[in-house]
Amino acid sequence: MTSLVQTVTQSRLWKSFFRHGWPDNPLDRSLVMTTNIFFHLHPVKVNRRSIKASYSLGLGVLTTFLFIELALTGVLLMFYYVPSVEHAFVDIVKIQTLVPFGQLLRNLHRWGAHLMVITTILHMVRVFYTGAYKPPREFNWVVGVVLLILTLGASFTGYLLPWDQLAFWAITVGTSIAAYEPLMGRTIQQILLGGPEVGQEALTRFYALHIMVIPMLMTLLISLHLWRVRKDGGLAANQLKDNE
Ligand code: HEM
Repeated sequence: MTSLVQTVTQSRLWKSFFRHGWPDNPLDRSLVMTTNIFFHLHPVKVNRRSIKASYSLGLGVLTTFLFIELALTGVLLMFYYVPSVEHAFVDIVKIQTLVPFGQLLRNLHRWGAHLMVITTILHMVRVFYTGAYKPPREFNWVVGVVLLILTLGASFTGYLLPWDQLAFWAITVGTSIAAYEPLMGRTIQQILLGGPEVGQEALTRFYALHIMVIPMLMTLLISLHLWRVRKDGGLAANQLKDNE
């Protein structure tokens, strides 16, 4: 058995996949991290202080997790949902009643979205409370603010898609509020609605924003945000003294 394991792990095929030995020494341990597509996003060594759950409360990671969960459940919902004023509401009812696990799927997406707004705000409060917005992390704070706006934008655009009374009137009120902005209010309202009132044009635009524009921007910015965390020397906790 041992010789079989040895033959396999010494083979060219095995070595073409795994470019390191068994991780029982510092070199192989770092190679495990740097030669794996998923692990390499994580630093080889992490400061003990930054993984203390009581420091970050895991809120940024939780927000990232919810973003991935929303992307996955969103794609599955797209299999059944057609963004047209004739079909949208009926499709949602079908998802809730006919599609296997449809109700679970929709609830995962809806509750995930509510939770993501909450965790993003709590994450921001945590960053503020621990002073982690100070140099050199001020740029990442600004990236975070844009991420918060996009998170709220994703929730707002998703709200119209069920095309029920709640959605219709919420978006009517929301876009009317936008129109009160003194300089570009009317233009913003027209860009969002694509016409004088909430109708098919608005549904098409909200759908495109919700499933493509906002998630793509968020994917880019979350990548930038996490990359910045690494480039700024990990979490700000690393700069604290042991008794802080
Ligand atoms: C989609 C929204 C967001 C995601 C997915 C996200 C994700 C993360 C993650 C995973 C971390 C590292 C771990 C942690 O601190 O828990 C982090 C750190 C950080 N985030 Fe966010 N974040 C988001 C929104 C925000 C917002 C709204 C702000 C502030 C306005 C912000 C500012 C920061 C800063 C300054 C750090 C570094 C913290 C430190 O060094 O202690 N982020 N973020």
